[in-house]
Amino acid sequence: MPRFMIRRLSLVAAVFALTLPLAVRADDLDREPINYSTTADNNAITHLQSRIDKGNLSLKFDPKLGYLESVLKELSIPESSQCLVFSKTSLQRHRISPRTPRALYFNHEVYIGYCHHGNVMEATAVDAKLGAVFYTLDQQETAKPKFARHNDSCLVCHASSQNHGYPGNLVRSVYPDEEGLPILSSGSFRVDHTSPIKQRWGGWYVTGNAGKQVHLGNLIIRDRRQPEDLQLTANINLNDLSQFFKTNNYLTPHSDIVALMVMEHQAETHNRLARANFQTRQAVHDETELNKALNRADTYRSELTYRRIKSAGDPLVKYMLFSGEAKLTEKITGATKFAEDFAKHAKKDSKGRSLRDLDLEKRLFKHPCSYLIYTTAFDTLPIDVKDYVLRRLHQVLIGRDSSRDFEHLSEADRRAILEILRETKPDLPAYWREDA
Ligand code: HEC
Repeated sequence: MPRFMIRRLSLVAAVFALTLPLAVRADDLDREPINYSTTADNNAITHLQSRIDKGNLSLKFDPKLGYLESVLKELSIPESSQCLVFSKTSLQRHRISPRTPRALYFNHEVYIGYCHHGNVMEATAVDAKLGAVFYTLDQQETAKPKFARHNDSCLVCHASSQNHGYPGNLVRSVYPDEEGLPILSSGSFRVDHTSPIKQRWGGWYVTGNAGKQVHLGNLIIRDRRQPEDLQLTANINLNDLSQFFKTNNYLTPHSDIVALMVMEHQAETHNRLARANFQTRQAVHDETELNKALNRADTYRSELTYRRIKSAGDPLVKYMLFSGEAKLTEKITGATKFAEDFAKHAKKDSKGRSLRDLDLEKRLFKHPCSYLIYTTAFDTLPIDVKDYVLRRLHQVLIGRDSSRDFEHLSEADRRAILEILRETKPDLPAYWREDA
């Protein structure tokens, strides 16, 4: 992409995504060992595309929703995962407003973005080597639909400083005006499972019940001069969004609070998995180069490299064990069968417990260890950081780590997670089985 284009996109990003320092590391992504834009992709979208290319699959086109339903079906993404965002914070912003929200759908390995009358559908897939990979699919009927891969035009926002310069997911909360434009002067929040409920869902629709817990969902700010002067109760605990937009333009009339919370958990887990992956490969690559230059054995690891691997792994361990998770003060109740659909992929132990069991009274999950531990993104972490992360997880779970980061985990929590993983994750290192 020509330089001036990048600059123009950066401007777009600055204005619309509120990403202050721009894609700071986008250049590094195209050097050894990452080679982001030239490395072949390998993920759920690549596999779907190859079925289309080989003639084993023809996607069905619907005059209203285009390829949406067919794509969701083939990727096993439940309709109930629909989350509706109406702030003009992403790519097709001219299509997005409180009357025409953007719909997102997800499962554990891919996210789909859909705009009403959008020219394209957007997708991010979690890739073994590349973290998040970005695609669009034209919403026009053709014999062989083609997911086109994009780099800079998406990375300008998705690999901005908000994602530490690495390709990843974005979830934000803003103060949206009547057009869906974020009111920048009021600030905005980057959202993950540590975000207090009261900061969440600005610019999003939310259905379901959060009791008395206030949040910024379903709020449209009519008076830009006094955005903080909000009545934070009329917007909560809604089940019907038809006062805001034509709900029958969408697959479901909902934007389930539980789906939103699960997405917020996993979007950031995916980001940290990708970062641990990239940073470790970079550290090992640098060491290998240095070993060559200094005539050292290629297996030599310096103290610095160990430190880099540790700092690549620690944020992932903390997040996967829900360190700093926002506390719930009242029960959260979903509006759809999302919870049921989500539980279908549970790996249960002999007592029927799984890492997908939702709690929703005090916290998101009953057993706070991310279910993304079962995914390819975890399994394909570079060996150095995977070993490190598994050792740290094990230490915490057997009670060898009593630091404040994990004090939210009771002895019973740790035991339950350990037992579930021992029974449901067969490829754990041998020391996980010992009861020392
Ligand atoms: C102007 C900034 C911007 C650009 C450019 C952009 N996005 Fe996004 N994207 C966002 C933001 C912000 C979100 C979070 C949800 C929201 O606010 O709409 C998001 C969310 C998404 C999601 C939902 C899951 C996730 O990864 O967070 C998908 C899928 C997505 N974008 C795909 C794409 C693709 C594909 C491209 C490039 C063709 C792209 N985006 C370009 C800002 C951008």
